[in-house]
Amino acid sequence: MLQSPLNRRPGGLPLLHAENLTRIYPPPRRGLLRRGVGVHAVAGVSFEIHAGEALGLVGESGSGKTTIGRMVSATLLPTSGTVSLDGATFTNPMPLRRRARVQAVFQDSLGALNPRIRIGRQIEEPMIIHGFDRDARAGRIASLMADVGLPHSILARFPGEVSGGQRQRVLIARALVLKPEVLVCDEPVSALDVSVQAQVINLLAELRSQHRLTILFISHDLRVVRHLCDRVAVLYCGRIVEIGPIASVIDTPSHPYTRALIDALPPDQPGQRRVPSGRSSDAGTDASTGAGCAFASRCLQVEKLCLESAPALRPLRPGHASACHFAGTL
Ligand SMILES: Nc1ncnc2c1ncn2[C@@H]1O[C@H](COP(=O)(O)OP(=O)(O)OP(=O)(O)O)[C@@H](O)[C@H]1O
Ligand SMILES: [Mg+2]
Repeated sequence: MLQSPLNRRPGGLPLLHAENLTRIYPPPRRGLLRRGVGVHAVAGVSFEIHAGEALGLVGESGSGKTTIGRMVSATLLPTSGTVSLDGATFTNPMPLRRRARVQAVFQDSLGALNPRIRIGRQIEEPMIIHGFDRDARAGRIASLMADVGLPHSILARFPGEVSGGQRQRVLIARALVLKPEVLVCDEPVSALDVSVQAQVINLLAELRSQHRLTILFISHDLRVVRHLCDRVAVLYCGRIVEIGPIASVIDTPSHPYTRALIDALPPDQPGQRRVPSGRSSDAGTDASTGAGCAFASRCLQVEKLCLESAPALRPLRPGHASACHFAGTL
């Protein structure tokens, strides 16, 4: 098994460990057969998250964020590689109790809820499956409603009868109902208005400290990640190109793609302009690239070496690693 000392946060054993995760989606079916090549959505991704820590996962559309989130929350099997929790590797099928320890919240709150079932019933359902009695279910729902800041009256409504922000809180409540240790949040606020986004992010930050939740927070928005996360992994074409403490990555980015993401952020000061540091292009979304660096065709600092060999992720400082041949010298 490939070891990943570069992606390891210093100190202690991690709660969650993704090791060399790869996912190839099969080509679409034509008739009875599948023709063509599969999509290499994720290739050799490794990271660790410690108990109580929040790791952000950023990257553009198609870079493989959701695919990683689904493998980590055990709703999608990796083609190869493993996910382990407290040192125990995920199996297929997963025992119910183990599955309950990792829960997920997704972007599309309307799609994630059944429109014809009342919200209260949908929050209660995981507890019924896990054999909680009626009193325990009622008590847990009451405390969850207080935790996520929703009135009890909402339980009797259908998902289409509440606002987008309230629906996202319902999804968070449902994800927390079995007291998971790890919460995977896949773009949980990107469909919301900016002011509602801030409320939901603050709620996640509060819940994290109240319940010592461990979070994998997926977003294409570095600003949101900066607000919530301790560390960030930057994904490009299904591979981690930079990972490190959030302040270190944002203040001293060492991969040209990370710099391009940071330069695309709106300026902090009015009137301040940023100079773009990457060529624009349609994102390459497949990790099965040739010999060179996947970012070479968009990189302004590209050299001959970049076209000839793919850079490995290597450490620059404790806990901060980058997959650029010229990291630390540019
Ligand atoms: N079920 C699927 N079958 C085939 N290909 C898929 C499937 N799901 C995702 N892909 C492909 O895998 C790649 C990664 O997709 P993924 O959804 O993980 O990206 P993402 O980073 O979450 O993008 P976004 O920011 O748009 O949500 C893309 O090229 C996508 O088209
Ligand atoms: Mg996605």
